[in-house]
Amino acid sequence: MVIASTVQELRTLVRGWRVQGRTVAMVPTMGALHDGHLDLVRAARELADHVVTSIFVNPTQFGPNEDFDRYPRTFDADCAMLDQVGCDAVFAPSVSAMYPDGFQTRVEVTRLPDHLCGLGRPGHFAGVTLVVLKLFHACEPDLAVFGEKDFQQVRVIEQMVRDLDCPVRIVRHPTVREADGLARSSRNRYLDARQRSQAPVLFRTLSGMASRIQAGARDPGSLIAQGRAAITAAGLSVEYLSIVDPDTLEDVASIDGPVRILVAARLGVTRLIDNVGAQPASA
Ligand code: PAJ
Repeated sequence: MVIASTVQELRTLVRGWRVQGRTVAMVPTMGALHDGHLDLVRAARELADHVVTSIFVNPTQFGPNEDFDRYPRTFDADCAMLDQVGCDAVFAPSVSAMYPDGFQTRVEVTRLPDHLCGLGRPGHFAGVTLVVLKLFHACEPDLAVFGEKDFQQVRVIEQMVRDLDCPVRIVRHPTVREADGLARSSRNRYLDARQRSQAPVLFRTLSGMASRIQAGARDPGSLIAQGRAAITAAGLSVEYLSIVDPDTLEDVASIDGPVRILVAARLGVTRLIDNVGAQPASA
């Protein structure tokens, strides 16, 4: 497995593959890899001849009071895992390689970030779109795989790719979960044993709401009130629990077709997110 740390190195490598007529898939990550990330790499391998995984803890998507400094950095272990699942190259640029002195360009989707995580994390999605566009330019992949675990993120990236005619196909990958339903996340390692036992209430609650929607519940207000109560009773503090249109991410007034149920909640200082799709049986 090749490790490239500059855009030039990565381009030379990828262009070498291209002249041989090979296709390339990219899996952007911030490292601290777990089985969810590896599943994305496995999926990418099925879809293209070569896979590039990027590992870059992107400072522009973290707010001033967020966990950029203490975000887990486990580069050697990450590379060992990537090698094992057949990743061909890792792109691991430095912060100064991505954002040299004098950097002043913004890349921003305007409406989709005005919901959900975007409200509590101003500027977060602008940081994501900026870095992902730079990663796409560096790698020029045919396709890129993103997890539905970060549902708003994949919607924002799909929108950017559409609006800017980026020549890359975005592939969504379903959320990978622990046996008890907790969505795998690099941030789960912040949880102590007690918090770890509380955390599965998120997926349990979302699944319960999805079943009730399937069984005919139509009123988002009462579903959300009950869901919030269940999550709060388990000791988490809810940032948002929303039932939205899966494309626009706007709250729905009544449930008449496919929706997405999304949650963000805090357990101590750790912020967890999750989401599921739902739709009435008749829709
Ligand atoms: P990161 O949180 O490292 O996630 C990298 C990719 O892995 C994202 O597409 C994310 O949705 C996916 N992922 C994480 N946990 C997952 C799980 N349990 N199941 C399925 N997919 C999962 O998301 C980012 O990094 C960054 O914002 C990034 C896109 C790399 C831009 O900096």
